[in-house]
Amino acid sequence: MNVLILGAGGREHALARKIAESPSCGHLYIAQGNAGTAKEGTNLQVNPEDFDAVAEAVRKHAVDLILVGPEAPLVKGIRDYFEALPEFDALRIIGPGKAGAQLEGSKDFAKAFMARHDIPTARYGTFTAAELKEAETFLETFEPPYVLKADGLAGGKGVLILDNLDEARRQLGLMLRDAKFGVASLKVVIEAFLDGIELSVFALTDGTDYVLLPEAKDYKRIGEGDTGLNTGGMGAVSPVPFSDAAFSEKVKQRIVEPTVRGLAAEGIPYFGFIFFGLIKVNGDPFVIEYNVRMGDPETEAVVPRISSDLLELLKAAADGKLSGKKIEFDPRHAATVMAVSGGYPESYGKGKKISGLNIPSDISVYHAGTAEKDGDTITAGGRVLAVTALGENLKQAVDDAYARMSTIEFEGLYVRRDIGGEFIG
Ligand code: AMP
Ligand code: GLY
Repeated sequence: MNVLILGAGGREHALARKIAESPSCGHLYIAQGNAGTAKEGTNLQVNPEDFDAVAEAVRKHAVDLILVGPEAPLVKGIRDYFEALPEFDALRIIGPGKAGAQLEGSKDFAKAFMARHDIPTARYGTFTAAELKEAETFLETFEPPYVLKADGLAGGKGVLILDNLDEARRQLGLMLRDAKFGVASLKVVIEAFLDGIELSVFALTDGTDYVLLPEAKDYKRIGEGDTGLNTGGMGAVSPVPFSDAAFSEKVKQRIVEPTVRGLAAEGIPYFGFIFFGLIKVNGDPFVIEYNVRMGDPETEAVVPRISSDLLELLKAAADGKLSGKKIEFDPRHAATVMAVSGGYPESYGKGKKISGLNIPSDISVYHAGTAEKDGDTITAGGRVLAVTALGENLKQAVDDAYARMSTIEFEGLYVRRDIGGEFIG
């Protein structure tokens, strides 16, 4: 099977390495990939959101399966595009069509879907610019902090959490009236703040059956102790110590199964990953958000813990044949720590030479924002590298990941030092 992975980050590198190990993997392509994915397969200079160009690559390289890494091509309808063309009848795509992708592409759709299927989530209301007065009145029914969410995709920046009512009103006006997030904030979801601990749960589904991947916890803030600006993610651990058997069962019964059944009941075919962004409040799970893809950096912690052949599972999901399929896990703990460019998530430099990549070791170094130039590997993004170690316990995994990270250097390198720290003591 020839495989094309769309995307260019650490998630795609971790998926590429795992898929390349599968005996069923023929040629592996990554578009556009990075300096790391170039070692697992062939990078293609194709923009994942230019569907004509993706189709050309599929024809040229006889691709049998596309795995869509990021959300944007899914929300834009890459599956619908290929399904409309008979020449691609046999092509398998991992990722939902436009209808299913609304779970991530529209917060209002996701909230209404949860309401229809009794899936636990924060109380909410959705408002347009014409309803600004009603929106303000609704906002006043909550206690601080106030949660405002742009309905559409806003590059991870569309959620505001504000302590003060006046500031929340002002931001609501900026979103609805002044298009603070462009078309993404033509509608705004106002919801109750949930106070708890977050984790990420992943299902691979064919729309009827599903397998659960290992769960993970992501560290989103730039600074130690969860301080400073939000980032794409500074590290991850898997498994998550507070996700015990009883809690996992609640997640399955109350959230995963009603979501998969709900999609089927609404006639929305779904072949791909569902990422449940959850929060545990007094022992119970609530959905903060859905994503229609794998997480980054969660993938870099989760995928090394899958001992089954992932490509075989992807094929089964795309073919609607997940029924009876099992997924095997490596019982060890994974810790992923991220090296980012100094200044990230605000402005940062690029093109810095990276050293220490080629030390032989069992510890995985996944590339996120890197490129090759004149035989050197250089930085090419905010998040640059993800280092994942597996250990018999979390402390071992964390220590090994940081030890490997300490051998890597580039100008301005910054690493958050407390990944997994709250579970180690
Ligand atoms: P999102 O962009 O939807 O992932 O939201 C960004 C972050 O905001 C989440 O990861 C949570 O940490 C936080 N958040 C979003 N909604 C809520 C909520 N209702 N209660 C508490 N925290 C929230
Ligand atoms: N790590 C969070 C995300 O991928 O959305």
